[in-house]
Order: sequence, then structure tokens, then C-alpha cells
Amino acid sequence: MVNDTHKDKYGFIDAELERRIDSGRLRRLRKVTPLNGIEIDISGRHLLNFCSNDYLGLATHPQLRKRAIEFIEKYGAGSTASRLICGNYDFYESVENKLAQLKQVPAALVLSSGFQANISAIPALADPQALILSDQLNHNSLIQGCRLARCKVAVYRHNDLSHLAQLLEQHSDKGFSGIFIVTESVFSMDGDMADLAGLVTLSKKFNAFLIVDDAHATGVFGHQGMGLTCGHDIDLVIGTFGKAGGSFGAYFACAEKTKQYMINCCAGLIYSTALPPAVLGAIDAALDLIPAMDDQRQSLRNNAAYLRQSLNKMGWRTGNSSTQIIPVMIGKEAAALEFSSWLEENGILISAIRPPTVPEGASRVRLSLSALHTREQIDRVIELFGKWRAKN
Ligand SMILES: Cc1ncc(COP(=O)(O)O)c(C=O)c1O
Repeated sequence: MVNDTHKDKYGFIDAELERRIDSGRLRRLRKVTPLNGIEIDISGRHLLNFCSNDYLGLATHPQLRKRAIEFIEKYGAGSTASRLICGNYDFYESVENKLAQLKQVPAALVLSSGFQANISAIPALADPQALILSDQLNHNSLIQGCRLARCKVAVYRHNDLSHLAQLLEQHSDKGFSGIFIVTESVFSMDGDMADLAGLVTLSKKFNAFLIVDDAHATGVFGHQGMGLTCGHDIDLVIGTFGKAGGSFGAYFACAEKTKQYMINCCAGLIYSTALPPAVLGAIDAALDLIPAMDDQRQSLRNNAAYLRQSLNKMGWRTGNSSTQIIPVMIGKEAAALEFSSWLEENGILISAIRPPTVPEGASRVRLSLSALHTREQIDRVIELFGKWRAKN
């Protein structure tokens, strides 16, 4: 092949950026300054935040700040290496034991981020001869993880366990090295829940390995707020501390031998610098606080139910949302963007979610609630949704 030395090596970048500008899909980073748990400053304007994942308001909690500082003072700013080299500082063991006890599982393993956990756990478990059955609406990190496994991936219709059962029936005894089912517990873009009991039954019946991403349920649902997966016999639970946990990082909750396997086979743990001490300090404090936050969880649920019912009464469709994540279906991408900008002009930050994150024609604005939101603030949102409806 002739090497075309005159070819612009940045051509593909220019083309993609132009394509995104032309289609109105160019993503941009905006400078944001947090003011408190639910207000932020964007370009000098104070906005009420209805798109953060800080569901319990822990990101600004004094105890998380304090413990993070204590850990920095004791251990320094960085962990200096991967956990398998010399980064496995003594706090890991106590944090992981605390987490395993709260999650009611034999073992827990802390990882750097939910994205890193998902993209490395799945290929660590599923070899190229395996089969993965993946929910249609799984988060991008799970999709990337499935791709990296380089095995056959079959997608089942969202939350449709009869479709999943059909695929399991069809593919069992076909010589796969293993069968894996991958789902979220609370779906990040739709705010609905998976039927975990049904999934466990199917995984047992077909001897399939069940992986559940509990990212949006950790802190919010389940016994002591420790996730929807609590009490279910799930082979690998993955969760994050960057959402209701208020800081950063991720975890696996699993059997002791699965933990040992991951320490040996999960590239995201082996080949990455351990999280800095400050983050583990914040996680440690969050794990002390979350179990006692039933009142905040109740306010969060009440806030979500009140907002959803009020929007539904006006005729807005919120899909199958039953959690603190409420998608309001708009349909056309341009309309979702226009609505989100108008809300922002009126002091409320609610992001538009559009393709490729959701399918074509399924653009929406997505609200996520915090236990810190007041009824007055929610009423302001309801009023604006009413006004927009009246004028469009
Ligand atoms: C369902 C789900 N899993 C995983 C992640 C990634 O987690 P993290 O932000 O800790 O990387 C996200 C984040 O948006 C998510 O929504």
C-alpha cells in the first residue's frame, strides 16, 4: 500500500467535529461552580440543579470533607501505585469490610470508577467463547465492557424477562464457555427498575452468571440504603460512590473467590493507580452516614413521587420511572434542547438527553432529584413545565 504522506492526519478529527456541528450534536464542556448541594453557578448565573446524581446531598456533607482531609493529612495526596504494587494502603481493608457487611455479601473490592469497573469486570469474566445477554438500555460503560469481552453479545428487550428466558433457552447447551446476564438495577436514563428476583431465578435456572450495576440505587434503595441488590443472590454487583455516595470510586460486591479472581484478572484494578486517600476518606464517611439516612431517602422518594404525579397530571409522559430519576419524554431532539435551554433561562438546570445516548425520537429532558430539594423548588419546576406546555 502506498503511504500517502500528504494525507492530513487530523482529517478524521476535522470531519467528525464538522459533522457534529452540522447535526447540532457538538458536545461542549461548561465551567460550573458548586454553590451548595443543589445550586450551581454557570457563567455568573445561579441555577437550581436538577441534574446531579448527588441524591442524598453527601457531596458537600461536612463529615465527608472532614474525613477526606484527615486521610490526606495522614496518608498524603496520592496512593503512589496500583493496589498490587504498593498502593493498597491499610484503610482499604476496613472500608471493604464495612462495605461487604453493609451490602450483606461475603466480600467487597473498591475500584477507581464505575466506568473503569464495568469496562474491565465484564472482559475479566467473559472470555471470547462466552455469551453475554445484555439489557437493551444498559449504560454505555456496560456496553463497552461487553464489547471488550470480544464474545457474542445478544441484547434482550428492556426489562423483558420473557425475551431473556427465550434467549437463554435458545443458547443454553450451545457450547458457550459461560453465559452472563448484564443489567442495571435502576436504569440511568429511564429511572425504572429491573426485576432482580426474576433475574436471579433465570440466572439460577440456566446456570448463568448475573452481573448487576447498582450505581443509581446505592445509597437510595434497599436495606439501609445499600442498594436494590441487597438480599438478592447476585453473582457480581457493581456500584459507584460518585452518585448518592457523594464522592468518587466504585466497588464490586461478591463472593470471596470472585474478589480473589478480580484481584488477579481485572485489568482495571491491576493496571491502575489506587484511588487517592482523600477519596477513600470520603467513601468511609459516606458508609457511616448512608445507613442512617432513611429520612432523607423518604424525602427523596416523596419529592420524586410528587414531581412525577404533578407532571403526569399536566399530560407529560415520564415513561416507567419509579425512582429519583425522571425522564420527561419530548421526542424530537431540537425540541428537547430548546426546552432545556428555556428552563435554564428560567433558572433551572435540567439536561436534554438525546441520541446517541437514547434512541432517535426518544429525546427527553431528564430530572434527577436530591433529598435536599425543597417543595418550593420542586413547585417552581412544575410551574415552568406548565408554562412551557401552555405556550407550545
Ligand atoms: C449505570 C451506570 N453505571 C456506571 C456509571 C459510571 O460510574 P462512574 O461515574 O463512577 O464512572 C454510570 C455513570 O453515569 C452509570 O449511570
